[in-house]
Amino acid sequence: MKALSIVSTFLLLFSTQAELPDKYNEALVPAYELPEVLIKENGERVEDALAWSDRRAELLQLFAEHMHGHVPAGVSNEIFPKVRKQVDFLDGRATLREVRVHFVEPDGPFMDLLVILPAGEGPHPLFLGFNFGGNHTIHPSRDISLTESWVKKIRWMPEGAVVDHRATDLGRGCCHRWPVEDMIDSGIGLATAYYGDVDPDFDDGFKNGVHAIFGQPKKNEWGSIATWAWALSRAMDYIETVPECDSEKVAVFGHSRLGKTALWAGANDTRFAMVISNNSGSGGAALTRRRFGERLQDGNTMFPYWFSKRFHDYNEKEDTLPIDQHQLLALIAPRCLHIASASEDLWADPKGEYLSAYHAAPVYELLGKQGLGKEVRYHKRHGKHDVMPFDWQQFINTFQSEVIFAD
Ligand code: GCU
Repeated sequence: MKALSIVSTFLLLFSTQAELPDKYNEALVPAYELPEVLIKENGERVEDALAWSDRRAELLQLFAEHMHGHVPAGVSNEIFPKVRKQVDFLDGRATLREVRVHFVEPDGPFMDLLVILPAGEGPHPLFLGFNFGGNHTIHPSRDISLTESWVKKIRWMPEGAVVDHRATDLGRGCCHRWPVEDMIDSGIGLATAYYGDVDPDFDDGFKNGVHAIFGQPKKNEWGSIATWAWALSRAMDYIETVPECDSEKVAVFGHSRLGKTALWAGANDTRFAMVISNNSGSGGAALTRRRFGERLQDGNTMFPYWFSKRFHDYNEKEDTLPIDQHQLLALIAPRCLHIASASEDLWADPKGEYLSAYHAAPVYELLGKQGLGKEVRYHKRHGKHDVMPFDWQQFINTFQSEVIFAD
């Protein structure tokens, strides 16, 4: 397996553009015209912050209507948090708290939120993001409870970490993507939950997770990504009630499908001071109209429940979609945005991720910010689709310089 991946890396690095599959051939990217970010549906140009707030509302509606789906009318945002554990952590350098956040009613469906904060009263800034394998995978400590939810065995998990879709002790600390100690040593906390608590990531016809109580979505109502994003806002509702957390300094983070989720959460919920997308690719930071790497219909085919059913109308018809992803990034303005790509992650179209940030920047400028290179950061690391310590160093730097020490 290892040998194979070395060979494929070698091939990728040393093959010329012409030898790559068509979907990775820059010469085959068609000419495209991006929908304007600063021109309203009625043709009016947006010239100031007031006009932008109308345009922002319009774009949010377009993304909900055509892509992610609306949160169904009548969905209650009420949460019922129950603290289940609170202990010292990392030899007293931190505290660890486990909170079961029930949705809608005291015994409703829940997500188990793990909150690790630097020691001391605070309030502490923090990262918030979903994890792929259960809270127990992010750090080996036995203080972290095993997830009780349905889990999928992912290739980076050791043998036996998941048995019959249930987590075991063998999965403790198996995910290298969360440098908890570096965060704490930088004075930043972490709140994380397993995304499958909210909606298990398989095509179950919207019968489990929170959909068990909210029911079958209509054609223009939420898919799983919008549901996960909604739950990130519910996590923020909880964070706002914790005096040790600085709810004005929360960076919402996500990798890959969870990067798409973080972007949609950050676009909707302006309480997030910073939004971080790591390798989010198609339906995330990458421009759809470039048709490079993963295309709209690829995601809709492999994961038909991620976006609304309405989004499927645009399969192979990217140019008819009234939106593109630079407009999603612009919805985060003037808040801090960090987009990260990886050089070998062509499926996620690193160039399309960069261009999207580039085309969102005029909105930051309109709002009196500098944009690219300051509130909008982009980095591309060498290597594969993943979250590495290098990525976190960049996120921590941006968070510290643009949010924590910004004033
Ligand atoms: C697939 C999918 C991507 C997604 C990724 C992930 O590769 O096509 O859109 O980002 O899975 O979440 O790991």
